[in-house]
Amino acid sequence: MKSNVIRISISLPENLLHNFDVVMKKIGYKDRSKAIQTAMIGFISENEWSNESSKGVGSIGLLYNPHNRNIEKSITLIQHNYNKIITSTIHIHLDENNCLENIIVRGDVKSIKRLVKELSENKGIKSIKVNFVKVV
Ligand code: NI
Repeated sequence: MKSNVIRISISLPENLLHNFDVVMKKIGYKDRSKAIQTAMIGFISENEWSNESSKGVGSIGLLYNPHNRNIEKSITLIQHNYNKIITSTIHIHLDENNCLENIIVRGDVKSIKRLVKELSENKGIKSIKVNFVKVV
């Protein structure tokens, strides 16, 4: 669905705008409109992550030690149970003691959260990070 572009005028503290401009330029944005749109989508997504019936897309980044007993088998079997929301998985053998698995998901927040919880219960997980985006 193509949406129309509208112009708005907003009031905000001068130093907030200054800090925003500094950060936006540092990460490569040239125009404020684009940077604010990205920030707004982040704001919406963050809020939607607490709404269990909301749908969206995301990635779950898992860092773990492959030497931990049964961890690879367990992570794989859990993913088989969530094949309706998992679109793909990328596995990178980082080094001797670290694997990075990135699971791309699409579905409702409730299912994604359940998957994250099950994955995080495995011993050997060093880090688990979810990046959820509400498609707007
Ligand atoms: Ni590996």
